Formats: sequence, C-alpha cells, structure tokens
Amino acid sequence: MTGAVRLEPVNEQNLEPLLSVAAAEAEPGEVMPPVEAPAGWSLARRDAFREFHRASFAGLTGPTRTQMYAILAGGEVVGMVRMTRRDEPGTVETGMWLGRSARGQGLGVAALRELLNEAAAAGMRTVVAETTPDNIEALKVLGKCGAKLREDGGKVHAEICLDSTPPAL
Ligand SMILES: CC(C)(COP(=O)(O)OP(=O)(O)OC[C@H]1O[C@@H](n2cnc3c(N)ncnc32)[C@H](O)[C@@H]1OP(=O)(O)O)[C@@H](O)C(=O)NCCC(=O)NCCS
Repeated sequence: MTGAVRLEPVNEQNLEPLLSVAAAEAEPGEVMPPVEAPAGWSLARRDAFREFHRASFAGLTGPTRTQMYAILAGGEVVGMVRMTRRDEPGTVETGMWLGRSARGQGLGVAALRELLNEAAAAGMRTVVAETTPDNIEALKVLGKCGAKLREDGGKVHAEICLDSTPPAL
C-alpha cells in the first residue's frame, strides 16, 4: 500500500496525540514497559509514557540508542514503531504498536516497510524482532516483510536482512 503511512520521529509535537491514541486504543502493556502505577491509564502512567518517549528523543546515538517514530495514516497519528541499536554491528531491533481501530488494515506491514527504509538509510544491514508464538498479527507482518522466523523457548526471533529486502515502493 504505497503512501498508506508516513513515519515522523516522535517529538514534543506528536507526543500528546500519540499518548491519546495509546490511552484510548491500546493496553499499557502493548505500548510501554511496566511501571509502578495504579492500573490502567492513570495520571502516573501517562507521565511515565511521556518520559519513556522523551528518553529517546536523541535517537540512535542517544542514551537509549532508540529512534521512535509516530506512524501517521491519513495525517493522523495511529501508532508507533521504533528501532534500537544492538551491540552487533549494523543491527537494530524493532517493535511496534497500532491503536485498535487502525489494526487489521495492512498498516502494520506498511509501517514496518517504512522502518526498514529508515534503517537502511541509517546504514543498518539487519533488523531483528522478538515476539511470542501467539502473536499471529505480528508474525504475519514480520513474514510479509521478509523475516526469517526461529522459535526458541516460547519466543519467536525474527531476522530481516536488508540486503535481500526489495525497497518499499
Ligand atoms: C502487531 C500489529 C502492529 C499488526 O499490525 P496490523 O496492521 O494490525 O497488521 P495487518 O493488518 O497488516 O495484519 C497482519 C495479518 O494478520 C492477520 N490477522 C489479524 N488478526 C488475526 C487473527 N486474530 N488471527 C489470524 N490472523 C490475523 C491479518 O489478516 C493480516 O494477514 P493478511 O495480510 O494475510 O490478511 C498490531 O496488531 C498491534 O498493534 N498489536 C498490538 C501490539 C503488538 O503486539 N505489537 C507487536 C509486538 S512484537
């Protein structure tokens, strides 16, 4: 789906729209690490969400070695995709989420393809991801983007070699 999505580095301008989508259309566990806070989208968890994203504003060379992108569809923020540098040279790990109403329309594949373009432009050669065997949607998205999948101890490791991935149109 050419042009279905656009990636925009997460910044102070798109952070509140991103939080609104997360709070309205995702579970905390899908979009951020666990924090000590009252259940659900409490004020403390919203603050933690902001700080979690601000910590990566400096991108791949910053302290978290992570570049986060807001996923935009039709000009609206619908989710987030990130890449994090690994110790292996030329390798980043990816992860993503979409708000519930944006799922099941192929936007996940489109966003991951854009992320692969960004990773290649940053000089990366390999993109890896980790998920669980029951996350059918994530496995399908990774498979459609050319990932080799390997199951090991209740986890699925995915590896995408950028040299062999045709560029997204
Ligand atoms: C993972 C995620 C980003 C996928 O994005 P998406 O845009 O919904 O994915 P797509 O619409 O491209 O769908 C992927 C495939 O899964 C299929 N699918 C969706 N739900 C399914 C289900 N319950 N059972 C079987 N297949 C399913 C779709 O039909 C599609 O296959 P197709 O293209 O052959 O028709 C999204 O589901 C999400 O945000 N999940 C919560 C967070 C998460 O789990 N992130 C990944 C962590 S590794």
